[in-house]
Amino acid sequence: MPWFSYREGVLHAEGVPLSAIAKAVGTPAYVYSVAALTDRYTALSEAFAGLPALIAYAVKANGNLAVLRHLGSLGAGADVVSAGEMQLALKAGIAPNKIIFAGVGKTADEMRAALRAGNTGILQFNVESEPELHLLSQVATELGVVAPIAIRINPDIDAKTHKKITTGKAENKFGIPIARAREIYAEAMKLPGIKPLAVHVHIGSQLTDLAPYDATFARLADLVRELRADGVPLARIDLGGGLGIRYDGETAPDPRAYADLVRKHIAPLGCELALEPGRFIVGNAGLLLCGVTYVKQADAKRFLILDAGMNDLIRPALYEAHHGIVSVAEPAADAVYAPADVVGPVCETGDTFAEERPLPPMQAGDLLAILSAGAYSAAMASTYNARPLAPEVLVHGDRFAIVRRRPTIEDMTVLETQPTWLDKAAS
Ligand code: LLP
Repeated sequence: MPWFSYREGVLHAEGVPLSAIAKAVGTPAYVYSVAALTDRYTALSEAFAGLPALIAYAVKANGNLAVLRHLGSLGAGADVVSAGEMQLALKAGIAPNKIIFAGVGKTADEMRAALRAGNTGILQFNVESEPELHLLSQVATELGVVAPIAIRINPDIDAKTHKKITTGKAENKFGIPIARAREIYAEAMKLPGIKPLAVHVHIGSQLTDLAPYDATFARLADLVRELRADGVPLARIDLGGGLGIRYDGETAPDPRAYADLVRKHIAPLGCELALEPGRFIVGNAGLLLCGVTYVKQADAKRFLILDAGMNDLIRPALYEAHHGIVSVAEPAADAVYAPADVVGPVCETGDTFAEERPLPPMQAGDLLAILSAGAYSAAMASTYNARPLAPEVLVHGDRFAIVRRRPTIEDMTVLETQPTWLDKAAS
């Protein structure tokens, strides 16, 4: 990753030494690179050059407003899955007509908010079930507007990724079985307040093999032809996200090879396209900067106990995900690497970032970086153990800024109130 590299013995984010960020902000802290965001967004948009594709960035991967604003300024739209994410996208300056609302559990309130966003409403709802279709019809009719929709198709294809992030198999909760698509589009065509103008598919996340996309796009193209023959005026095809990145030596798919599959199967249909990449854009644009609190030598193991925990980055605990871990001080050329378990301070054995990871000698007070932590990292953090959310720092060249500060305990308890009867309960 060229955006994070050693210079003069210290790991830098672009032109900024991470030691300087740790000094100014404390640890743990997330650090994101503007150059990386730009590079990844541009790589994808260039791969789709000549195709009418909207890159609707999946806000769930990293909803930091500064990140959203930067991606928005590059031309990105937003794929959102809650009213909250929609508000973040709007707040970051992304136009409603570039926002796609996905998710299996949209509520009537969320539908209303999306239908009213910026007066015009959003670009598209990705409908995942018949009950949702009927509720959206009712809500739109009540408001006197028409909801532009895609129906999410479940193609029953194995994305060959972790089972917790596979979404396109028949047994997953997502979408409508492809075999029922024509029937449900026919129903949607008759419903008041509903305008079916798109199809949507998303088969999973962190795909490193393009073959499942090949199969999915082929099936989807056939379906689009059938639906058109049925008279459904399809104008847009939303291909979802899922492009994988390199965490641990895997070969990350080339966005140009992915775009070639779209050219092969989908482009001939002559529709507008939407893409919903999350991880591809932000995953390797961020890291989690941490301090070593203790080095604990147990019987057979060396534990590095960090000041970051599973509450800050839950991916290893939840998916056995691998994240690279490196010393911020560049290890000497002759440094001896020895295995260490890299753990957090949270009171659970699952609070482990890596087991038996070869690392150079480390001491309390040293800094480490947990790599590839731009996606689904800060976004999935919690305050478990009353640990404040790690601040977020954005680097641009030799400048950096805190784009989300570390909360105080006052911030963390501001929503809590004490009932007066609790005073009396004690007496
Ligand atoms: N579109 C839809 C409908 C999605 O459900 C997702 C991700 C995306 C787009 C973006 O996928 P991406 O390009 O980022 O792969 N927390 C997990 C990943 C969950 C992905 C959920 N859906 C992780 O940390 O690996």
